[in-house]
Amino acid sequence: MAELKVLFATSEVAPLIKTGGLADVSGALPAALRAIGVDVRVLVPGYNQVISHLTPQQVVATFNDLPGFPPVRLLSGVMASGVTVLAVDCPSLYQREGGPYQNALGHDWADNAQRFGLLSRVAAVLGSSASPLDWHPDLVHCNDWQTGLAPAFLHFAPGAVPSIIAIHNIAFQGNFPPETVQQLHLPPACYSIEGAEFYGNLSFLKAGLFYADHITTVSPNYAKEIQQEKLGFGMQGLLTFRRDRLTGILNGIDTEEWDPSTDPHLAKPYSSANMSGKAANKESLQSKMGLNIEPDIPLLGVVSRFTEQKGLDLLLEIAPLLTKLPVQLAMLGTGDAKMQKTARDLTHLYPGKIGVVIGFSEELSHQIEAGADMFVMPSRFEPCGLNQMYSQRYGTPPIVHATGGLVDSVVDSSTATLKGGTASGFTFEDMTSKNLFAAIQRAVGMYHDKIKWDALRKNCMAKNFSWRSSAEAYRTVYLKVLKDRRSIIRSKS
Ligand code: ADP
Ligand code: GLC
Repeated sequence: MAELKVLFATSEVAPLIKTGGLADVSGALPAALRAIGVDVRVLVPGYNQVISHLTPQQVVATFNDLPGFPPVRLLSGVMASGVTVLAVDCPSLYQREGGPYQNALGHDWADNAQRFGLLSRVAAVLGSSASPLDWHPDLVHCNDWQTGLAPAFLHFAPGAVPSIIAIHNIAFQGNFPPETVQQLHLPPACYSIEGAEFYGNLSFLKAGLFYADHITTVSPNYAKEIQQEKLGFGMQGLLTFRRDRLTGILNGIDTEEWDPSTDPHLAKPYSSANMSGKAANKESLQSKMGLNIEPDIPLLGVVSRFTEQKGLDLLLEIAPLLTKLPVQLAMLGTGDAKMQKTARDLTHLYPGKIGVVIGFSEELSHQIEAGADMFVMPSRFEPCGLNQMYSQRYGTPPIVHATGGLVDSVVDSSTATLKGGTASGFTFEDMTSKNLFAAIQRAVGMYHDKIKWDALRKNCMAKNFSWRSSAEAYRTVYLKVLKDRRSIIRSKS
């Protein structure tokens, strides 16, 4: 059989441009698919960070008459992973100071509908008979709302290939006023309950969920949760209706980038066979974060967006009590201004015990995973979550709320799971500060029992979170979608 060709459309891709886990996935999954023989090309907006790092840069197409959009060039380059990137070069929409979705003040760009409408439109052109490229994908793999219109454009385009959409976070939906339909030159038929209309708005995400041939999401447990009112964010009805076309596939992690035995950011490498280097990482982290050098006081690490989703408000609320256990806290993150201030204030109230860095630092995120004794992730909801997997790989047991992908990737420590060798962290059920505190208390109790703690860390480090099996699961979905499409075409002819 000829090699399967997939266009992977995404709004961020590591290491070129990253605000969260979507970038990690968009960097690593295409590389893992390539390793199992799938020919994947990644389509991203040509932000400054992308254009300036794209090598060798080649113009492979120009689009001067996409209705509703300025002229566009398509640039191609190759990432260090060997995966080809196609960047949508449209300086007036993408080359500006600020983030991919928001300006420097944290406000959404006013023209996001047009910016991601264009990304979706180009993905659809490349997946249809109108594509100017020699390379024709068999399928378009979309990710989140930013590429949600691609399945809609494809649905109405002649000679279009099938599409899938992966939900990384259903809370972000790309809902815009109805006039956007006309501005983006979407077929008016799209704007219907049986289509992309969502409570009086055009919803990019709903368009994807409605028109894509298949829907995936980033963990099996989240696939169930989004079919329910509590975590469906209004999409639960459609997802329940399409449940035969919905598959949860747990994300993997890049096991080369996240490897404590070779990580260049660490003070000292270590491995499951020789953990002695972990203490040096703890000391170095304590000194970097302004914490007292205390080898025997458990150090809790956090690397996170500061948002309601991540539940850090609960952690900040109990931080004063935690210092009495005692534990130390090292936090890295950015986001909500109020949470940032509370976190900063805590460093003044509890000097040497609580350390906070507000910002985005790849290097420090690795150092926290390695230097902390435990990693805290009290997310209210978490489609998959990557940090709990990184922390297990670094022998830093995670403490997590039992939700989404955290349930699929962390095994609570109980007498039975410790005996069975599967325990890998601490989970708590109901989202209250009391329950979070109790879970941390349990972890601290076990930390002081060296034999149990060593066994727990070994279990964590033995787990296999590599992308390979997830990449195979995606390939299975691709093949099924293509087979179903062929049988529809056969039954029509
Ligand atoms: P989400 O995508 O919802 O933010 P994930 O756990 O899937 O959550 O992925 C977050 C990714 O972003 C991880 O790679 C994490 O290390 C990284 N990250 C989050 N905040 C920061 C930060 N302030 N500095 C560096 N990396 C960060
Ligand atoms: C989203 C989710 C996170 C997931 C990531 C990558 O940002 O919030 O849980 O790990 O996407 O799929």
